[in-house]
Amino acid sequence: MRVLVSGGAGYIGSHTVVQLVAAGHDVVIVDSFANSKPAVIGRLEALTGRHLPVHAFDLTDRDKTERLFADEAFDAVIHFAGLKAVGESAQIPLEYYENNLDSTFSLVRAMRRHGVNLLVFSSSATVYGEHAPLPYREDYAPLQSSSPYGRTKVMIEHVLSDVAAADPQMRVALLRYFNPVGAHASGTIGEDPQGIPNNLMPFIAQVAVGRRDKLTVFGDDYPTADGTCERDYIHVEDLAAGHVAALNKLASTQEPVSIWNLGTGQGTSVMEMLHAFERAVGRELPYDVGPRRAGDQPQSWADPAKANAELGWQTCKTIDDMCADTWRWQSANPTGYEG
Ligand code: NAD
Ligand code: UD1
Repeated sequence: MRVLVSGGAGYIGSHTVVQLVAAGHDVVIVDSFANSKPAVIGRLEALTGRHLPVHAFDLTDRDKTERLFADEAFDAVIHFAGLKAVGESAQIPLEYYENNLDSTFSLVRAMRRHGVNLLVFSSSATVYGEHAPLPYREDYAPLQSSSPYGRTKVMIEHVLSDVAAADPQMRVALLRYFNPVGAHASGTIGEDPQGIPNNLMPFIAQVAVGRRDKLTVFGDDYPTADGTCERDYIHVEDLAAGHVAALNKLASTQEPVSIWNLGTGQGTSVMEMLHAFERAVGRELPYDVGPRRAGDQPQSWADPAKANAELGWQTCKTIDDMCADTWRWQSANPTGYEG
């Protein structure tokens, strides 16, 4: 298939591009580079051995989006583009709603006008909100989220479901990611957060490489085995494989909308993750324990049975793989792509 990958220069998009090319697809990237670096493209071309066409513009620009679809034919779109920092979304909510919703509107508008029917969308486990029972299952309702970022995902899930229900040609996959971590085994592409990392794994990696003094564990008095929060960390390579599987499934399914959790089904605590990273690095890493972070759930993990059965997909990487691959990327690129 000829696949337009929106946000293909970003963390998850870049890893998915490599696997799409390996699976025989033709890939075209569109990215504004609002949260990524053009240097990633050269790394992707080296990994894939291909020239990768890149369109550098903001998808909220409807005219440019329309022109791209008028000029080029696509069989499918994988829509990663979006702003994703939970804390920032509470400070600049309008920017989050505008960017995430308007980019989706202009993409879907152009898809409808040009007869492109297959769409894979990056949703998040955050749509399960605070009250869903563990493990999270796709049939849980009502969706809700505690941040403006998360609410953009809830809204977009509803918008895409409504659009697909009204159009017999359209096939939409809503992929609910759990906690993506890790990097390509080559160590040449990986997660490169701007500023102070919000998420656990990149923060630990920056402590290990000497960019941060120590990890602060956000609370050790939760009702969990060691008192720290438990999450379903999924290797970005397993996550990327889930997109290739979802795309293949969309080409044959009769369902207008398919929802799949992409997670391992296993919870890992903050302290377990820190110790796994210490094993990868071969030394202890400094940490202290601070107060709880507002909005954190004690535990979150997927029931991945639906994706396993319907996509013929399952995760195969361990927590130790996730740490070893993150460390290979971080130690080879201490300051990310512009080192
Ligand atoms: P990322 O920021 O690394 O990648 C997103 C890419 O989209 C960036 O390259 C950015 O420049 C681009 N972009 C943003 N707005 C754009 C616009 N209007 N037009 C064109 N390009 C635009 O993020 P990621 O971690 O790769 O996440 C990809 C998607 O997955 C996002 O939609 C995110 O919300 C979702 N997601 C991520 C996680 C996670 O933990 N990383 C978890 C759940 C869901
Ligand atoms: C966070 C977002 C979630 C988003 C996800 C993307 C919040 C409240 N939730 O989820 O909406 O979909 O990122 O992956 O922001 N931790 C520390 N010290 C740190 C950083 C994190 O102890 O410096 C802890 C957190 O308290 C949490 C765990 O590590 O218990 C994982 O945190 P993080 O990587 O931010 O992911 P989530 O909180 O699951």
